[in-house]
Amino acid sequence: MTSKRTVLSTMALAVALTAGMTATLASTASAGTTLKASAAEKGRYFGAAVATGKLSDSQYVGILNREFNSVVAENEMKWDATEPQQGRFSYTGGDRLVSHARANGMTVRGHTLLWHAQQPGWAQGLSGSALRNAAINHVTQVATHFRGQIHSWDVVNEAFADGGGGGRRDSNLQRTGNDWIEAAFRAARSADPGAKLCYNDYNTDGVNAKSTGVYNMVRDFKARGVPIDCVGFQSHLGTSLPGDYQANLQRFADLGVDVQITELDVMTGSNQANIYASVTRACLAIARCNGITVWGVRDSDSWRGTDDALLFDRSGNKKAAYNAVLDALNAGSNPPTTPPPGTPDTTAWYLLVNRNSGKALDVYNLATNDGARITQWARNNGNQQQWQFVDSGGGYYRLKSRLSGKVLDVYNFSTTNGGSIVQWSDGNGTNQQFRLADSDGGYVRLINRNSNKVVEVQGASTADGGNIVQYDDWNGSNQQWQLIRIG
Ligand code: XIL
Repeated sequence: MTSKRTVLSTMALAVALTAGMTATLASTASAGTTLKASAAEKGRYFGAAVATGKLSDSQYVGILNREFNSVVAENEMKWDATEPQQGRFSYTGGDRLVSHARANGMTVRGHTLLWHAQQPGWAQGLSGSALRNAAINHVTQVATHFRGQIHSWDVVNEAFADGGGGGRRDSNLQRTGNDWIEAAFRAARSADPGAKLCYNDYNTDGVNAKSTGVYNMVRDFKARGVPIDCVGFQSHLGTSLPGDYQANLQRFADLGVDVQITELDVMTGSNQANIYASVTRACLAIARCNGITVWGVRDSDSWRGTDDALLFDRSGNKKAAYNAVLDALNAGSNPPTTPPPGTPDTTAWYLLVNRNSGKALDVYNLATNDGARITQWARNNGNQQQWQFVDSGGGYYRLKSRLSGKVLDVYNFSTTNGGSIVQWSDGNGTNQQFRLADSDGGYVRLINRNSNKVVEVQGASTADGGNIVQYDDWNGSNQQWQLIRIG
């Protein structure tokens, strides 16, 4: 799976390069007035940890929906929550968060598949191969359940020891053998090939023995082809920030992984706003820093008790730290994390391969009539899977089928979620025009000019014949397509 991903990515890059890639995304200089808008202008997400029980608190949800475009479950996706009894899985809280995220255009970080803490009692009582098997089964089951819904998974959390040794933390998982982490990453990749897979830890915020231990593991994983895409830096901070915070993030990015600030909170005091701003600036200065997540919304929501470590006070008001983050986001000038996909070559024929399913956009059953349904199907390079971009001007294109000569079309100018994508005679209608938006790793979303929704595989299906519809753009892996030039 990994080598296929790499080959496809390389091909897509080659396509972009031979097509004479030009940046088409306009970079607007307008200052955002919310964290999510300002972060998005810089190609980043801004997220919060959520306790799903608070989704019925209107003040909480008001702030969450206004300011954040990424969420992570504070507790509901941990092992004790998702597999309270061995082999009995419970996804109520996680599913609730995912549906809230989808309804509000937010991406989801998954936290966490394996960790020494918050294990269910039955797992705490296991050891050896029984524990190893249970742990890998847990990774597979949970990542499969949420397949296609998760932007990044914390596959393994906090596996390194504090102090000067730089080694692994002793835990029941570690005692099953040093290779437990790579086994977990491999299982996660198989279960959800569309999610970025992260290692996540705390006290790794500067260059120190612990972060160097993690660094060496990531370097080794990259060298041996163990699937790892990102490193999370929890950044639970006190009253100072390590001076080499940015340099530390950068050395990880230089290994060829993304970096993410995953659980940011900062001790209250005269330095709080400055530290928040410095962390934000550091992320923006690193092309591979995807985004920042704060570990809660209001001070009263924080696990840190009286530290008042968050961006909103106990009444839901913006704090100085909030303004410092917003200003830092708006001042940042670094472009988005990855090069834009560029302009497609309008003389070429492309396959469009879905990131989540690995299947190709396909005119079902070789139909040539108006209204025929468009599906996904295992890649076979047939004419029914080949598409040409026809320029409509203004950065919009129709996608013409090599088989039928018809173009992708949002049926009947629908503007609703779930509206069908069909083929229809080319009338250059706005419901037939799409622009490309960059997702990372050489993938794009196709945004319809009329509805402003994106082309997705409905329900993140991975089956042949899975339906293609339009839906709100939440950058899901089922909404991301790789353009593979084949003719
Ligand atoms: C914390 C939660 O915030 C608490 O509600 C829970 O009681 C304990 O865990 N590092 C992590 C997070 O990776 O999962 C922890 O979250 C905070 C430290």
